[in-house]
Amino acid sequence: MSRSIQIAAAAYPTKLAGGALVLLTDDKLALSDRASALIGDAGRKAFEKAAEIESFKGKLNGVLSILAPAGLDLDRLIVVGVGPASEAAKRNAVTLGGVIGGALAKAKAATVLLDAPDGPLSAEQAADVALGAQLRFYNFDRYKTKKKDDELKPTTLKLTLAVADAAAAKKALPGRDAIAAGVILARDLVNEPPNVLDPPTFAARAKELKKVGVEVEVLGVKEMTKLGMGALLGVGQGSRKESQCVIMRWNGAKGASAQPVAFIGKGVTFDTGGVSLKPGGGMEDMKGDMAGAACVTGLMHALAARKAKVNAIGVIGVVENMPDGAAQRPGDIVTSLSGQTIEIINTDAEGRLVLADVLWYVQDRFKPKFMVNLATLTGACVVALGKEYAGLFSNDDELSDRLHKAGQATGDRVWRMPLAPEYDKLMDSRFADVKNSGGREAGAITAAQFLQRFVNKTPWAHLDIAGTAMGSPKTEISQGWSSGFGVRLLDRLVADHYEG
Ligand code: BES
Ligand code: MN
Ligand code: ZN
Repeated sequence: MSRSIQIAAAAYPTKLAGGALVLLTDDKLALSDRASALIGDAGRKAFEKAAEIESFKGKLNGVLSILAPAGLDLDRLIVVGVGPASEAAKRNAVTLGGVIGGALAKAKAATVLLDAPDGPLSAEQAADVALGAQLRFYNFDRYKTKKKDDELKPTTLKLTLAVADAAAAKKALPGRDAIAAGVILARDLVNEPPNVLDPPTFAARAKELKKVGVEVEVLGVKEMTKLGMGALLGVGQGSRKESQCVIMRWNGAKGASAQPVAFIGKGVTFDTGGVSLKPGGGMEDMKGDMAGAACVTGLMHALAARKAKVNAIGVIGVVENMPDGAAQRPGDIVTSLSGQTIEIINTDAEGRLVLADVLWYVQDRFKPKFMVNLATLTGACVVALGKEYAGLFSNDDELSDRLHKAGQATGDRVWRMPLAPEYDKLMDSRFADVKNSGGREAGAITAAQFLQRFVNKTPWAHLDIAGTAMGSPKTEISQGWSSGFGVRLLDRLVADHYEG
């Protein structure tokens, strides 16, 4: 990456020291006393004039950037709006960090005075600002060889977050670093081209989590054949690349034997549709069909790197769905690990086949407290919810509620959709126990019903992230396409309910 960011926390400064200075203002263009004292009359005048010229009104996340204001020892004065105090509930420190990161795209050193007109930000909020800035800075340019001159030399932004309680902020930063690294790992995996990130390479990348203390075990075709994972193996049988199942374990709870929580990801490194071939237009996006597995890998990294007090299992099924002489056909019947037989109606409904075996494996081997699986599972979910909310399907109201709340808090939002016996029936097969496609109607729901046939009594939630994890729009904290959706959501779920 040509541009990186280094973040430290410090006490509020008493004088200017060059570089960029970021201040917060409200809808009345008020500044905190501390901010006013720092920039003095000269700064205030420059700010007022620029605000007038730019019609800057201090609205939430609005930015006013003044180049080298006369009479001040600054390269730039940047003022970010936080909106009116009456609407403080709309403020979000991670988003603010993203806005600030965006405003500092060219800066080498900057100080942010985390002091709003209606009060200073807390140490936790400061750490969230750091997280948002880091996420905003992420850019996947590994394969761009023709960089512009100013991109050739790696540059670092030294960002100082000036806060009321610097010691507390310093303590909070490493945890956010761990989360940022997890989101960035997930984004990287999703962005990698499918010729580079094939199933064995994905497994090798997951093995690197050993560095942060995650135990990693990899099952290949031989082991999965012995276990009887016929559903997963059927998907990968048309590929030259060996299918993999990767088991990641983080033991952070006090009792090493405490019942674990489990996360499961769909890892289709490329989805051509198989013999039921997808149309050509946009097919390149199907390199992102492993975003569920990427999220689980990023989450395991985050939990381990911040030493979360939880026992967590992450299991990903990693395969490539290709058409080939050896590929699976519509009409094939495979036997899943659960013993249930599955009639293949459409080889493009492959993600659920991978998950069927992994879900069964996880609940059987680990007996987890709950299982959450993530998958770019259906185009139907994108039609229903677009790119804003992931679909949530669950057999458990408490788990659903917790996921919904964690989603609202982090911005990785989820919306619950129904499961019901009438939908389940649509998955009955003429020739086998179940079929892998229920047709056009309620496509996201019937996919979830299929998965539920491989879940026993374990509390379980399925997140359909086809709309939210890939092909994503630019936001304050993401430069687009690969969002890293789900890492912050599930990290928060664990932090709020399953640690300690
Ligand atoms: N990976 C796709 C779903 C998808 C679509 C992800 C768009 C991201 C963006 C999945 O494997 C798939 O092909 N699903 C089919 C299921 C159908 C054949 C029952 C679909 O959604 O059309
Ligand atoms: Mn498919
Ligand atoms: Zn797929």
